[in-house]
Amino acid sequence: MDRNQVFNFSAGPSVLPEAVLIKAQAELMNYRGSGMSVMEMSHRSAVYADIFAETKARMKAALSVPDTHEVLFLQGGASTQFSMVPLNLLPEGGSADYAVTGHFSGSAAKEAAKFGAVHLAADTSEQKHTFIPAQAELSLDPNAAYFHYCANNTIYGTEWQYVPETGSVPLVCDMSSDILSRPVDVAKYGLIYAGAQKNMAPAGLTVVIVNKALAGHERPETPLMLSYQRMIDKDSMFNTPPCWCIYILGLVLEWLEEQGGVRGMEQIKRERARRLYEYLDNSALFTPNAQPGSRSDMNVTFRTGDPALDALCVSGAAERGLLNIKGHRVAGGMRASIYNAMPMAGVDALIAYLKEFEVEHHGK
Ligand SMILES: Cc1ncc(COP(=O)(O)O)c(C=O)c1O
Repeated sequence: MDRNQVFNFSAGPSVLPEAVLIKAQAELMNYRGSGMSVMEMSHRSAVYADIFAETKARMKAALSVPDTHEVLFLQGGASTQFSMVPLNLLPEGGSADYAVTGHFSGSAAKEAAKFGAVHLAADTSEQKHTFIPAQAELSLDPNAAYFHYCANNTIYGTEWQYVPETGSVPLVCDMSSDILSRPVDVAKYGLIYAGAQKNMAPAGLTVVIVNKALAGHERPETPLMLSYQRMIDKDSMFNTPPCWCIYILGLVLEWLEEQGGVRGMEQIKRERARRLYEYLDNSALFTPNAQPGSRSDMNVTFRTGDPALDALCVSGAAERGLLNIKGHRVAGGMRASIYNAMPMAGVDALIAYLKEFEVEHHGK
């Protein structure tokens, strides 16, 4: 299939901005006269040090990260943060609050329970994670070491529309699937983490933004690689960092600036999601999974109610170059991931296809 005939709705790894791929391609064989590819150079070299510093500065600027917080470029995926967070932030004998509103927040809570007491501040499992609880519905422990939640539930297609108010309890947030899609008041958070493979870069990089005051209290048995303080001290270079991913993140951030930064992204993502939900809400065939008020602007999940028809919808879409709209196996149905790099034309093409599919199959 020709790349120009395809829109890729994959949930992650996912579409990257075309301009970024073109620039990376142009710089691939000889990065800015260095005679090397970025993949081939020492992470301690002057040329790479510039790439690293520039990417970090762009990341700080993109989210207006205050000086109280440090930006780290780590590995092990967002999943490694499920253990790194409690190892560093949950003291022996302490308890942490977890809001379980989807698959990954459930995994994070389960992992944290290996290290200490976990109190479920919310659990929407029985309602199949179709909504985000309101502030008043959260059961908060004022003595919790931190409150963990996942801002956007990639699999179920729900997204927190507010920042939970937890008083003096630090907020820890998994922003893997909506980071850089909107402004964030970083000062409100103790720690933010995100796997790169949705809105930022290829898989292999995890961005962590941590309040420096929270670091340095890890448990004695914490592996070196899992200590925030160690990574802060070494500027993420205790070992070889994911050099290529960091370079691509720099290009993505440069592209993001050209689109008006996270404010620009927020406007575009709202419009992408608005068009798709508007169609789905008026459709006689498709039903969105997530309740209004809790819907994700990044991962739009929907179904016909008939698994065989869902499968037909997914395969028909692929034939048209509308790739990867199959829902996650735990949720079923369809899922269109419309991250920052998805052009509006992709959403319009998907809606046009779904309309045709509806005419052909509704009531048959
Ligand atoms: C919200 C969220 N958290 C965590 C993860 C796990 O990320 P990783 O595969 O980088 O460990 C994912 C993966 O899709 C995700 O969407």
